[in-house]
Amino acid sequence: MSLPTKDHCEEKNAHDAETSNGGQEHPFYVDTHYIKALLYWNETANEHDNTKKFFDDVLPEILPEPVTGKSFFNVLGVGSGTGKIDLHILSTIQKLRPDLKIYSETIEPTKEEIDLYKASVSNTPELSNVTFTWHNKSVVEYEADVKQNNTAKKFDLIHMVQMLYYVKPVKETLEFLKSLLSPEGRLVIVVLSGECGWVKMFRNNIYPSNQDFNLDLDSDQTTDILDAIVMRYEIHDIDSFMDVTGLVEGREDSELLLDVIMDEAEFAKTASPDLKAQLMADLQDPEFTFRKDGKIWLDTRVKGIVARH
Ligand SMILES: C[S@@+](CC[C@H](N)C(=O)[O-])C[C@H]1O[C@@H](n2cnc3c(N)ncnc32)[C@H](O)[C@@H]1O
Repeated sequence: MSLPTKDHCEEKNAHDAETSNGGQEHPFYVDTHYIKALLYWNETANEHDNTKKFFDDVLPEILPEPVTGKSFFNVLGVGSGTGKIDLHILSTIQKLRPDLKIYSETIEPTKEEIDLYKASVSNTPELSNVTFTWHNKSVVEYEADVKQNNTAKKFDLIHMVQMLYYVKPVKETLEFLKSLLSPEGRLVIVVLSGECGWVKMFRNNIYPSNQDFNLDLDSDQTTDILDAIVMRYEIHDIDSFMDVTGLVEGREDSELLLDVIMDEAEFAKTASPDLKAQLMADLQDPEFTFRKDGKIWLDTRVKGIVARH
Protein backbone atom coordinates (compact mmCIF):
# COMPACT_ATOMS: atom_id res chain seq x y z
CA MET A 1 0.00 0.00 0.00
CA SER A 2 1.43 3.45 -0.85
CA LEU A 3 1.32 6.10 1.81
CA PRO A 4 0.38 9.76 1.53
CA THR A 5 3.54 11.66 0.71
CA LYS A 6 4.93 14.90 2.06
CA ASP A 7 2.81 16.91 -0.42
CA HIS A 8 -0.24 15.82 1.45
CA CYS A 9 1.00 17.27 4.71
CA GLU A 10 0.22 20.68 3.29
CA GLU A 11 -3.44 19.96 2.87
CA LYS A 12 -5.66 22.47 1.14
CA ASN A 13 -9.35 21.96 0.82
CA ALA A 14 -11.47 22.89 -2.16
CA HIS A 15 -11.70 26.52 -1.09
CA ASP A 16 -8.06 26.97 -0.19
CA ALA A 17 -6.37 25.06 -2.96
CA GLU A 18 -2.80 25.28 -4.13
CA THR A 19 -1.27 25.93 -7.51
CA SER A 20 2.39 25.31 -8.12
CA ASN A 21 4.02 28.03 -10.14
CA GLY A 22 5.70 28.21 -13.48
CA GLY A 23 4.83 26.32 -16.59
CA GLN A 24 4.92 27.09 -20.21
CA GLU A 25 1.44 27.75 -21.46
CA HIS A 26 0.05 25.80 -24.37
CA PRO A 27 0.21 28.23 -27.32
CA PHE A 28 -3.41 27.77 -28.42
CA TYR A 29 -5.10 27.37 -25.09
CA VAL A 30 -4.00 30.73 -23.73
CA ASP A 31 -6.41 32.19 -26.25
CA THR A 32 -9.68 32.69 -24.40
CA HIS A 33 -11.59 32.46 -27.71
CA TYR A 34 -10.32 28.91 -27.99
CA ILE A 35 -11.37 28.08 -24.42
CA LYS A 36 -14.80 29.54 -25.21
CA ALA A 37 -14.95 27.26 -28.25
CA LEU A 38 -14.07 24.20 -26.16
CA LEU A 39 -16.73 25.07 -23.60
CA TYR A 40 -19.32 25.59 -26.38
CA TRP A 41 -18.40 22.18 -27.78
CA ASN A 42 -18.67 20.55 -24.35
CA GLU A 43 -22.17 21.96 -24.04
CA THR A 44 -23.40 21.12 -27.54
CA ALA A 45 -21.75 17.75 -28.24
CA ASN A 46 -22.35 14.52 -26.36
CA GLU A 47 -18.72 13.54 -25.81
CA HIS A 48 -18.43 14.95 -22.30
CA ASP A 49 -21.66 13.33 -21.09
CA ASN A 50 -20.67 9.97 -22.55
CA THR A 51 -17.16 10.22 -21.11
CA LYS A 52 -18.70 10.86 -17.69
CA LYS A 53 -20.89 7.75 -18.15
CA PHE A 54 -17.79 5.77 -19.07
CA PHE A 55 -16.12 6.82 -15.81
CA ASP A 56 -19.33 5.95 -13.92
CA ASP A 57 -19.01 2.43 -15.33
CA VAL A 58 -15.30 1.90 -14.69
CA LEU A 59 -14.74 3.70 -11.38
CA PRO A 60 -16.38 1.00 -9.22
CA GLU A 61 -13.86 -1.48 -10.68
CA ILE A 62 -10.93 0.85 -10.05
CA LEU A 63 -11.69 1.77 -6.44
CA PRO A 64 -10.09 -0.38 -3.74
CA GLU A 65 -12.29 -2.88 -1.91
CA PRO A 66 -13.15 -1.62 1.59
CA VAL A 67 -11.58 -4.81 3.02
CA THR A 68 -8.14 -3.60 1.92
CA GLY A 69 -8.34 -0.95 4.64
CA LYS A 70 -7.00 1.70 2.27
CA SER A 71 -8.06 5.08 3.58
CA PHE A 72 -7.01 7.43 0.78
CA PHE A 73 -7.07 7.59 -3.02
CA ASN A 74 -4.58 9.58 -5.08
CA VAL A 75 -5.80 10.95 -8.43
CA LEU A 76 -3.69 12.69 -11.08
CA GLY A 77 -5.47 14.51 -13.92
CA VAL A 78 -3.19 15.27 -16.86
CA GLY A 79 -4.36 18.02 -19.24
CA SER A 80 -7.58 18.53 -17.30
CA GLY A 81 -8.56 21.83 -18.90
CA THR A 82 -11.39 23.44 -16.97
CA GLY A 83 -11.81 20.28 -14.89
CA LYS A 84 -15.38 19.36 -15.82
CA ILE A 85 -14.56 15.67 -16.23
CA ASP A 86 -12.21 15.71 -13.24
CA LEU A 87 -14.86 17.08 -10.92
CA HIS A 88 -17.30 14.44 -12.11
CA ILE A 89 -14.70 11.73 -11.39
CA LEU A 90 -13.86 13.13 -7.96
CA SER A 91 -17.44 13.61 -6.82
CA THR A 92 -18.34 10.13 -8.09
CA ILE A 93 -15.45 8.61 -6.11
CA GLN A 94 -16.61 10.47 -3.05
CA LYS A 95 -20.20 9.28 -3.54
CA LEU A 96 -19.09 5.66 -4.00
CA ARG A 97 -16.59 5.67 -1.14
CA PRO A 98 -17.34 8.48 1.34
CA ASP A 99 -14.82 6.92 3.71
CA LEU A 100 -11.85 7.57 1.38
CA LYS A 101 -9.77 10.73 1.62
CA ILE A 102 -9.13 11.84 -1.95
CA TYR A 103 -5.97 13.69 -3.00
CA SER A 104 -6.39 15.29 -6.42
CA GLU A 105 -3.44 16.64 -8.38
CA THR A 106 -3.77 18.26 -11.76
CA ILE A 107 -1.20 18.99 -14.45
CA GLU A 108 -2.49 21.74 -16.71
CA PRO A 109 -0.24 24.23 -18.54
CA THR A 110 -2.93 26.87 -19.13
CA LYS A 111 -3.51 29.18 -16.19
CA GLU A 112 -6.83 30.46 -17.55
CA GLU A 113 -8.20 26.93 -17.54
CA ILE A 114 -6.97 26.29 -14.01
CA ASP A 115 -8.76 29.46 -12.89
CA LEU A 116 -12.01 28.19 -14.42
CA TYR A 117 -11.43 24.79 -12.81
CA LYS A 118 -10.99 26.43 -9.40
CA ALA A 119 -14.16 28.45 -9.87
CA SER A 120 -16.08 25.22 -10.57
CA VAL A 121 -14.61 23.57 -7.48
CA SER A 122 -16.17 26.23 -5.31
CA ASN A 123 -19.54 25.54 -6.97
CA THR A 124 -19.44 21.75 -6.86
CA PRO A 125 -21.03 20.03 -3.87
CA GLU A 126 -19.79 16.67 -2.60
CA LEU A 127 -16.09 17.49 -2.62
CA SER A 128 -15.55 17.78 1.11
CA ASN A 129 -13.18 14.78 1.13
CA VAL A 130 -11.03 16.13 -1.70
CA THR A 131 -7.75 18.01 -1.35
CA PHE A 132 -6.63 19.79 -4.52
CA THR A 133 -3.22 20.71 -5.90
CA TRP A 134 -2.74 22.18 -9.37
CA HIS A 135 0.55 22.14 -11.26
CA ASN A 136 0.52 24.92 -13.81
CA LYS A 137 2.84 23.17 -16.25
CA SER A 138 3.03 20.60 -19.03
CA VAL A 139 3.46 16.93 -18.22
CA VAL A 140 7.04 17.01 -19.55
CA GLU A 141 7.86 19.89 -17.19
CA TYR A 142 6.19 18.00 -14.34
CA GLU A 143 8.32 14.95 -15.12
CA ALA A 144 11.49 17.07 -15.14
CA ASP A 145 10.57 18.56 -11.73
CA VAL A 146 9.77 15.18 -10.22
CA LYS A 147 13.06 13.74 -11.43
CA GLN A 148 15.10 16.75 -10.38
CA ASN A 149 13.55 16.99 -6.91
CA ASN A 150 13.16 13.25 -6.46
CA THR A 151 9.52 13.68 -5.44
CA ALA A 152 7.80 10.92 -7.41
CA LYS A 153 4.56 9.98 -5.75
CA LYS A 154 2.24 7.09 -6.54
CA PHE A 155 -1.26 7.54 -7.87
CA ASP A 156 -4.22 5.15 -7.80
CA LEU A 157 -5.79 6.77 -10.85
CA ILE A 158 -4.10 8.81 -13.56
CA HIS A 159 -6.34 10.08 -16.33
CA MET A 160 -5.65 11.79 -19.63
CA VAL A 161 -8.88 12.81 -21.35
CA GLN A 162 -8.60 14.02 -24.93
CA MET A 163 -5.12 15.42 -24.45
CA LEU A 164 -2.60 12.84 -25.67
CA TYR A 165 -2.35 14.63 -29.03
CA TYR A 166 -0.42 17.45 -27.37
CA VAL A 167 2.12 15.33 -25.55
CA LYS A 168 5.63 14.87 -26.83
CA PRO A 169 7.27 12.41 -26.63
CA VAL A 170 4.20 10.18 -26.16
CA LYS A 171 5.86 6.84 -25.42
CA GLU A 172 8.33 8.22 -22.88
CA THR A 173 5.58 10.23 -21.17
CA LEU A 174 3.33 7.19 -20.84
CA GLU A 175 6.28 5.24 -19.51
CA PHE A 176 6.84 7.96 -16.90
CA LEU A 177 3.16 7.95 -15.92
CA LYS A 178 3.25 4.15 -15.63
CA SER A 179 6.09 4.57 -13.14
CA LEU A 180 3.80 6.80 -11.02
CA LEU A 181 1.02 4.21 -10.78
CA SER A 182 0.48 2.41 -7.49
CA PRO A 183 0.57 -1.41 -7.81
CA GLU A 184 -3.21 -1.62 -8.35
CA GLY A 185 -3.45 1.79 -10.02
CA ARG A 186 -5.02 2.52 -13.41
CA LEU A 187 -4.00 4.83 -16.22
CA VAL A 188 -7.15 5.86 -18.08
CA ILE A 189 -6.72 7.40 -21.51
CA VAL A 190 -9.59 8.80 -23.57
CA VAL A 191 -8.51 9.31 -27.15
CA LEU A 192 -10.11 9.42 -30.61
CA SER A 193 -11.02 6.07 -32.07
CA GLY A 194 -8.99 4.96 -35.09
CA GLU A 195 -12.29 4.44 -36.94
CA CYS A 196 -13.79 7.87 -36.42
CA GLY A 197 -14.34 10.47 -39.14
CA TRP A 198 -12.41 13.19 -37.35
CA VAL A 199 -9.17 11.18 -37.35
CA LYS A 200 -9.74 10.11 -40.96
CA MET A 201 -10.19 13.75 -41.96
CA PHE A 202 -6.81 14.61 -40.53
CA ARG A 203 -5.24 11.56 -42.05
CA ASN A 204 -6.62 11.89 -45.57
CA ASN A 205 -6.19 15.60 -45.96
CA ILE A 206 -3.12 17.62 -45.41
CA TYR A 207 -4.39 20.74 -43.70
CA PRO A 208 -1.56 23.24 -43.69
CA SER A 209 -0.80 24.01 -40.09
CA ASN A 210 1.99 25.49 -38.07
CA GLN A 211 1.09 23.24 -35.17
CA ASP A 212 3.33 20.53 -33.98
CA PHE A 213 0.65 18.26 -32.48
CA ASN A 214 -0.27 14.66 -33.28
CA LEU A 215 -3.83 15.53 -34.23
CA ASP A 216 -4.34 12.18 -35.93
CA LEU A 217 -3.12 10.14 -32.98
CA ASP A 218 -5.73 7.48 -32.26
CA SER A 219 -6.63 4.62 -29.96
CA ASP A 220 -4.80 2.01 -32.08
CA GLN A 221 -1.51 3.91 -31.91
CA THR A 222 -2.07 4.41 -28.19
CA THR A 223 -2.54 0.70 -27.50
CA ASP A 224 0.54 -0.09 -29.63
CA ILE A 225 2.51 2.13 -27.26
CA LEU A 226 0.93 0.49 -24.22
CA ASP A 227 1.98 -2.88 -25.63
CA ALA A 228 5.52 -1.58 -26.12
CA ILE A 229 5.75 -0.36 -22.53
CA VAL A 230 4.18 -3.59 -21.28
CA MET A 231 0.88 -2.52 -19.81
CA ARG A 232 -2.31 -4.57 -19.70
CA TYR A 233 -5.46 -2.75 -20.80
CA GLU A 234 -9.10 -2.99 -21.69
CA ILE A 235 -10.83 -0.82 -24.25
CA HIS A 236 -14.29 0.74 -24.00
CA ASP A 237 -16.25 2.39 -26.82
CA ILE A 238 -17.53 5.88 -26.08
CA ASP A 239 -20.01 7.40 -28.53
CA SER A 240 -19.38 10.95 -29.60
CA PHE A 241 -20.92 12.89 -32.46
CA MET A 242 -20.69 16.57 -33.29
CA ASP A 243 -23.61 18.34 -34.97
CA VAL A 244 -21.97 20.28 -37.80
CA THR A 245 -25.22 21.21 -39.61
CA GLY A 246 -24.96 24.85 -38.59
CA LEU A 247 -21.40 25.03 -39.86
CA VAL A 248 -22.26 23.58 -43.22
CA GLU A 249 -25.25 25.95 -43.47
CA GLY A 250 -23.00 28.89 -42.59
CA ARG A 251 -24.65 29.81 -39.30
CA GLU A 252 -22.37 32.21 -37.47
CA ASP A 253 -22.96 30.86 -33.96
CA SER A 254 -21.57 27.49 -35.06
CA GLU A 255 -18.25 28.96 -36.11
CA LEU A 256 -16.77 28.32 -32.69
CA LEU A 257 -16.83 24.63 -33.53
CA LEU A 258 -14.27 25.27 -36.28
CA ASP A 259 -11.68 26.11 -33.63
CA VAL A 260 -12.30 22.75 -32.00
CA ILE A 261 -12.37 20.72 -35.22
CA MET A 262 -9.19 22.30 -36.56
CA ASP A 263 -7.54 22.94 -33.19
CA GLU A 264 -6.89 26.51 -34.26
CA ALA A 265 -7.92 29.61 -32.39
CA GLU A 266 -10.22 31.84 -34.49
CA PHE A 267 -9.97 29.49 -37.46
CA ALA A 268 -12.89 31.18 -39.24
CA LYS A 269 -11.05 34.50 -39.21
CA THR A 270 -7.54 33.35 -39.98
CA ALA A 271 -7.88 30.44 -42.44
CA SER A 272 -7.54 30.99 -46.17
CA PRO A 273 -10.72 30.76 -48.31
CA ASP A 274 -9.31 27.62 -49.98
CA LEU A 275 -8.76 25.90 -46.69
CA LYS A 276 -12.22 26.82 -45.44
CA ALA A 277 -13.75 25.51 -48.69
CA GLN A 278 -11.81 22.26 -48.31
CA LEU A 279 -13.05 21.84 -44.77
CA MET A 280 -16.66 22.55 -45.76
CA ALA A 281 -16.38 19.90 -48.48
CA ASP A 282 -14.93 17.42 -45.98
CA LEU A 283 -17.73 18.10 -43.53
CA GLN A 284 -20.18 16.91 -46.20
CA ASP A 285 -18.11 13.92 -47.29
CA PRO A 286 -19.76 10.64 -46.19
CA GLU A 287 -16.35 9.26 -45.34
CA PHE A 288 -16.15 11.65 -42.40
CA THR A 289 -19.72 12.70 -41.58
CA PHE A 290 -23.19 11.18 -41.82
CA ARG A 291 -26.73 12.52 -42.08
CA LYS A 292 -29.39 11.61 -39.56
CA ASP A 293 -32.64 13.26 -38.39
CA GLY A 294 -32.14 16.10 -40.87
CA LYS A 295 -28.72 16.93 -39.42
CA ILE A 296 -25.09 16.42 -40.42
CA TRP A 297 -22.91 14.74 -37.79
CA LEU A 298 -19.13 14.51 -37.58
CA ASP A 299 -18.15 11.12 -36.20
CA THR A 300 -15.94 11.96 -33.21
CA ARG A 301 -16.12 8.62 -31.38
CA VAL A 302 -13.50 8.03 -28.72
CA LYS A 303 -12.19 5.02 -26.84
CA GLY A 304 -11.66 4.78 -23.13
CA ILE A 305 -8.52 2.74 -22.46
CA VAL A 306 -8.08 1.46 -18.92
CA ALA A 307 -4.45 0.37 -18.47
CA ARG A 308 -2.57 -1.13 -15.51
CA HIS A 309 0.78 -2.70 -14.65
C1 LIG B 1 -8.86 19.15 -25.52
S1 LIG B 1 -8.36 19.76 -23.96
C2 LIG B 1 -9.07 18.51 -22.92
C3 LIG B 1 -9.39 19.05 -21.57
C4 LIG B 1 -10.09 18.06 -20.63
N1 LIG B 1 -9.27 16.89 -20.37
C5 LIG B 1 -11.44 17.67 -21.17
O1 LIG B 1 -11.58 16.56 -21.70
O2 LIG B 1 -12.36 18.48 -21.09
C6 LIG B 1 -6.61 19.40 -23.87
C7 LIG B 1 -5.95 19.95 -22.61
O3 LIG B 1 -4.60 19.51 -22.57
C8 LIG B 1 -3.79 20.57 -22.09
N2 LIG B 1 -2.41 20.32 -22.54
C9 LIG B 1 -1.86 20.62 -23.73
N3 LIG B 1 -0.58 20.24 -23.78
C10 LIG B 1 -0.32 19.66 -22.59
C11 LIG B 1 0.84 19.04 -22.02
N4 LIG B 1 1.97 18.95 -22.71
N5 LIG B 1 0.77 18.56 -20.76
C12 LIG B 1 -0.39 18.64 -20.05
N6 LIG B 1 -1.52 19.21 -20.54
C13 LIG B 1 -1.49 19.71 -21.79
C14 LIG B 1 -4.40 21.80 -22.70
O4 LIG B 1 -4.03 22.99 -22.03
C15 LIG B 1 -5.88 21.47 -22.57
O5 LIG B 1 -6.41 21.94 -21.36
